[in-house]
Amino acid sequence: MTATDPHRTPAGHDGPRRREPRPNKSAHPLLRALLTVAVLTLLLTAAWPARGLGTAGFVLVDGAPVAIGGQTTVVQVANARDLAPLTGARLDVAGDVIVPGGGIPGTIEVGSTVAPLDLILHDGSVVATRRGADRFEALARTTASIPHEVRVEGSGPVVSLVRKGSDGERESFRGDRSGRTVAEFITREPVDGSLRRSSALAEGQKAVALTFDDGPSRFTTDILAVLAEKGTAATFFWVGKVAAGRSDMIRLARDAGHEVENHSWSHADLTALNAEGIHTEISRAAEALGGTRFLRPPYGKYNSTVVEQAGTLGQSLVLWDVDTLDWKIHDASSILSRVQAAVRPGAVILMHDGGGDRSQTVAALPAVVDWLLNEGYALTTLQHLAD
Ligand code: NI
Repeated sequence: MTATDPHRTPAGHDGPRRREPRPNKSAHPLLRALLTVAVLTLLLTAAWPARGLGTAGFVLVDGAPVAIGGQTTVVQVANARDLAPLTGARLDVAGDVIVPGGGIPGTIEVGSTVAPLDLILHDGSVVATRRGADRFEALARTTASIPHEVRVEGSGPVVSLVRKGSDGERESFRGDRSGRTVAEFITREPVDGSLRRSSALAEGQKAVALTFDDGPSRFTTDILAVLAEKGTAATFFWVGKVAAGRSDMIRLARDAGHEVENHSWSHADLTALNAEGIHTEISRAAEALGGTRFLRPPYGKYNSTVVEQAGTLGQSLVLWDVDTLDWKIHDASSILSRVQAAVRPGAVILMHDGGGDRSQTVAALPAVVDWLLNEGYALTTLQHLAD
């Protein structure tokens, strides 16, 4: 208020004192100050905790609110809250746990996305731990052969191949740790082989073939002498390595009208060999014997591979109908009686000229030939019987 205030008039100067309306100047400044202090106080009170603790906001960690600062990272929250996402399990192929914690490690996600540990969190971020996925053990694939079978139909000493069988194959999948089989498939079915045995003789032909195995030996000469005396022919199945270098004996037998055929190179069980081994056994013997046409597999053992390999070398398999057992029962009369008991038209009769003491075979032979001839049998070689 100053002396020049136009609103101010000395008292009594112009009659009765006017009461002019005045602004509420005396009470209002205090109220204003109080209000100002109150507002500031409220503002400061509200702002103080946040600014004073460095808090920039809140995040939800696995559902619980957690205050964060302006530069709080994922790893800081994880450490502060001891976050430890669970690792998945290693499962076997059937889904059973074999290694707890052997699966995929768990993760910390921010907003459903796997977060880098140095990610800076913002107000309102949602942080969650996720258990890692389970992991199945690895599958091991194995294949195994399914052996085929070989059926033999018919009877008789001549063996021929109808169909060569083939092995099948089975595929298995199993857990590489548990060994549990989860799946198995047959990827190739086995095909059974088929062999036919037949007679070497046409119907009504009354003939038999005498055959001698395992030579040549010192008894062969005696047998050749008996056959020469009786004026008849026989078939010899000789072992290649025994006959090798005995071309004189081979020629002698053939010149006398006998057949010299194949009994393998080393008298091996051909069914124990693979195709290549069988091939070698037959071909070496055939070469040593100057060419052969029939193969008698040692021990009479054969399979479709033997028949097939023999076939590729032009050899037919021939077994026997009558086993004199001369290799086992060294008795001339027993040899004769076994022939008498079992012979029939077309029979192939098995005896031995090698492989041991064959003196009883030599002794029995004249009576065997005489008896067969008296019974009306023609004695022939295998080739003529098979033709
Ligand atoms: Ni033999």
